Amino acid sequence: MSGSDATMNAPVAAAIVLAAGEGTRMKSATPKVLHEIRGRSMLGHVLAAVRGAAPARVAVVTGAGRTAVERHLADADPDALAVFQPSQDGTGHAVQLALAALDEAGPIDGTVIVVPGDTPLLSAASVRALARHRAETGAACVVLTANVPDPTGYGRVVRDRSGRVRAIVEHVDASDAEREITEINSGVYAFDGAKVRSALNLVGADNAQAERYLPDVVRIFVKDGERVAAALIDDWREVAGVNDRVQLAAADAMLRDRLVTAIMRSGVTVIDPATTWVDVGVEIEPDAVILPNTLLFGATRIATGARVGPNCSLTDTVVGEYALVRDATCEGARIGPQAQVGPYTYLRPGTALMRKAKAGGFVEMKNAVVGEDSKVPHLSYVGDATIGERTNVGAATVFVNYDGVEKHHSEVGDDVRIGSDTMIVAPVTIGDGAYTAAGSVVVDDVPPGALAVARGRQRNVEGWVEKRRPGSPAARAAEATRSGSRPSEADRDNRNSPPVDESGGSTTP
Ligand code: UD1
Ligand code: CA
Repeated sequence: MSGSDATMNAPVAAAIVLAAGEGTRMKSATPKVLHEIRGRSMLGHVLAAVRGAAPARVAVVTGAGRTAVERHLADADPDALAVFQPSQDGTGHAVQLALAALDEAGPIDGTVIVVPGDTPLLSAASVRALARHRAETGAACVVLTANVPDPTGYGRVVRDRSGRVRAIVEHVDASDAEREITEINSGVYAFDGAKVRSALNLVGADNAQAERYLPDVVRIFVKDGERVAAALIDDWREVAGVNDRVQLAAADAMLRDRLVTAIMRSGVTVIDPATTWVDVGVEIEPDAVILPNTLLFGATRIATGARVGPNCSLTDTVVGEYALVRDATCEGARIGPQAQVGPYTYLRPGTALMRKAKAGGFVEMKNAVVGEDSKVPHLSYVGDATIGERTNVGAATVFVNYDGVEKHHSEVGDDVRIGSDTMIVAPVTIGDGAYTAAGSVVVDDVPPGALAVARGRQRNVEGWVEKRRPGSPAARAAEATRSGSRPSEADRDNRNSPPVDESGGSTTP
């Protein structure tokens, strides 16, 4: 079966998602179906696929971790009916309870889809195709099957010589010969609602797990001469079940491949798909470029022409057209068109860089608006601040926003020059066109066009080293220089000494 042949919708009376199992093999305090891949719970993925077939009603069977699952459901799919299965007596029992609960609001008649909660890669197209298959054949059951490289653990599809499905046998109950079968039960079915309801009454628990297996209805249908069909899926990966953390990582990688492939097909350049991780909610416009080792989480959006990466982690962040973002961690930030971020930059929630603004190397920002063409190029912290346009903030400037009890806000105007190593002690306002002297601790407002100097005057104590540190390397160097016996620049260069930083500590925009 190919997902793409599902062009028209067949009516679906109900969909039942099975999510009561403990997920013992996950070895987790979190219920299995709440584990996430690519920014959405497994249950959320399954519900999205199921909703794609437009079922009239949806039921989710909960059990282990009931409270957490129900809370999640209220948020993820509030229209779904939560059905509690007090003890996990098997998938057949779970469906029976779900049908009974759904029947309370009028008996379910027509196609009923059943999907396990731990098959997160299932596509809506496949669910639709399955429903259509049942509608067209009138079968009591169409089971979605797959040929898998390693069928261990799955129920096997037993067919007769003419290829008709006879039964589904669980791995633990299977004979050696049956275990050779590579066609497995995906756990996804389209049933005739009335027929599965009555067949379930006949399902016992006489098996290795003493559970009432849903797949046992296949044998019952066959015995009753009902039609059972199998729809073999093209790509087995779509129905890969997740029972442990190894399978969780594998499913995550498969979904990553699917999402990144779709992004590339839509016109985005992805230099290294294997190290590009994109959540389901991420949107990237054509002609953006994603460089290696880039993680895009949540509702991150990237506009056309932007370059993001290498080594970026963006969560709920908006990147404008032609912006450059590299080696950066950004959370809840808005990066404007043609803005520049990085390298080694941390933008926290509430950061907004306007057009052509810059947050350079080793800069952290939080709750800060940086106006158009303004730059914070090096080693600074900007917290709780508004910076105007065309302003430059010198290296090692700190917006001192926290007095130990409360956070305070600072304002910096347009065309301001903040000298290197200025401490802006909030709340403070620095007017348009003002300057601050390097090393200033600014505690008072600075009027427009003023220079704020707030630092001790320099005093040189002549001869201090030779007097107080006699015989030290420093004293010898000072003495040599003063007596004119110090080696020349050229001699020093010849000894391969490390370069001397001649800068006075100022920084350029
Ligand atoms: C099940 C199928 C198997 C199929 C495989 C596909 C049965 C008996 N076996 O095996 O044929 O190949 O899925 O992945 O159905 N659940 C409940 N209530 C219960 C038991 C399970 O809601 O009492 C839920 C689980 O939470 C899970 C799903 O049903 O989401 C499947 O249960 P699981 O224990 O994972 O079954 P498998 O052993 O994987
Ligand atoms: Ca399973």
